[in-house]
Amino acid sequence: MDKHISWKDYYSVGEESLDAQHKQIVAILDDLYHVVHVGGEQAEFKRLLDRLLQYTVAHFEHEEQMMQACGFPDFDSHKAEHDQMRRRTLAYREHLELITAHDLLRFLKEWFTEHVRAQDQCYVPYLSAAARQQRSAIAPTQAIGPIDRLGQTTAG
Ligand SMILES: [Fe+2]
Ligand SMILES: [Fe+2]
Repeated sequence: MDKHISWKDYYSVGEESLDAQHKQIVAILDDLYHVVHVGGEQAEFKRLLDRLLQYTVAHFEHEEQMMQACGFPDFDSHKAEHDQMRRRTLAYREHLELITAHDLLRFLKEWFTEHVRAQDQCYVPYLSAAARQQRSAIAPTQAIGPIDRLGQTTAG
């Protein structure tokens, strides 16, 4: 079994907030690896698992909002994967006696790396298209900015 997990550039979805959240999930997974390998207390393992769950659920919500905002067509099936992951991790958390820490960690790591590389990458073109559109919509507003300020100065 690997002794740690680290961020890889190919996990990137090219969007700052989502990359930051994915990096944070990798960091929590790495802490879990550490606890499992140094034979840490089960209480510490549970604490990190709770943190992972809490953080992942918040990330899923953010990612789902972003997918909807950019009109990602496979939103429903992507959300279904998130929901299934949420349910499975919660079930493991409730029944830690049924699975070893090694196996649970392997499941979490495989799910995360596969999901980020295969599923999350699918929304990347939609997200970048929406970002480009937003930039071109913002440009004219910025262009009239100085005129507005000039108008205010004249009026005042
Ligand atoms: Fe996702
Ligand atoms: Fe994600």
